[in-house]
Amino acid sequence: MGSHVVGGLLAKGHDVLVVDNLSTGMPSNLPDNVEIVDIDIADDGFVSVAKAFNPNVISHMAAQSSVSVSMSNPCLDARVNILGGLSVCRAAKEAGCEQVLYVNTGGALYGEPEYMPCDEDHPIRPISGYALSKWTSECYFRMMLPDSIPLKVLRLANVFGPRQSPHGESGVISIFARKMLDGDVVQIFGDGEHTRDYVYVGDFVRAHDMAMRHARSLTLNFGTGEGTSVNEVFQQLKSLTRYGESPVYGDARPGDVRHITLDSSKAKRTLGWEPRVGLLEGLEKTVAYMRG
Ligand SMILES: NC(=O)c1ccc[n+]([C@@H]2O[C@H](COP(=O)([O-])OP(=O)(O)OC[C@H]3O[C@@H](n4cnc5c(N)ncnc54)[C@H](O)[C@@H]3O)[C@@H](O)[C@H]2O)c1
Repeated sequence: MGSHVVGGLLAKGHDVLVVDNLSTGMPSNLPDNVEIVDIDIADDGFVSVAKAFNPNVISHMAAQSSVSVSMSNPCLDARVNILGGLSVCRAAKEAGCEQVLYVNTGGALYGEPEYMPCDEDHPIRPISGYALSKWTSECYFRMMLPDSIPLKVLRLANVFGPRQSPHGESGVISIFARKMLDGDVVQIFGDGEHTRDYVYVGDFVRAHDMAMRHARSLTLNFGTGEGTSVNEVFQQLKSLTRYGESPVYGDARPGDVRHITLDSSKAKRTLGWEPRVGLLEGLEKTVAYMRG
């Protein structure tokens, strides 16, 4: 997701510094002309790096982003997502930046929904370490940032598209597509009837740009409001990749919510944002990218 935002910012003429410890990120995803500093955001040195660059805007997207890792290694998750977030907050204040964008998870934050699609007022009920750490960081940003630094919280549904790693434990679309194109076995955790709200990465980049240009603090959901089961995603990708096999079902993973869709009507009212790329079109673009 970060590489797509960087591309969009460079295209608009912004100077960009990427800070990433390359734990899952790949420099090859980034344009050639962007400077990358390889440092952990939770390290003390990060604040000095930020101050030296003197940014107007900090967009915080670095994360331990796997639900299953957050359950098996909650200390790692908390270190990156909570201590790292605090370090970003300190950097924003000391570097005198003019706004902070924080990319949060609308897909995990609300837990098992009381109603769907979830709006921003739905109770926050994390059922994974990941959701809890991302929420804690959002709370810290609210508490620690002065009013003079607007905070833009983007609560995203499940983002997918080109460049998403097929090697991690999240990002079901890129994982399935890679395995299908390679003729490997596809595993579904649980019965596959759990549903997600899939939003295309290009629509996220538009949301990020619109939020950045907005004058005031905001907290907004970004999703399509449509739920699609993992079994349906499997079938659509199977047909796009001409995969001939059936999935293998395994145990459901702890921390995964059963159903989630997001209500983005506030984003439409506030920013004029609506998703433009539907699931099938996004899957076609993703498979085309992976074939390439
Ligand atoms: N992908 C989604 O569906 C989704 C949905 C909602 C929110 N988000 C959030 O959006 C952001 C980006 O997600 P993504 O899918 O691109 O994740 P990703 O895991 O692909 O990217 C995270 C990046 O952070 C870097 N990173 C990890 N730990 C770091 C550390 N300690 N210091 C510096 N860099 C570090 C990684 O190297 C990687 O480049 C994350 O904050 C994630 O929580 C993602």
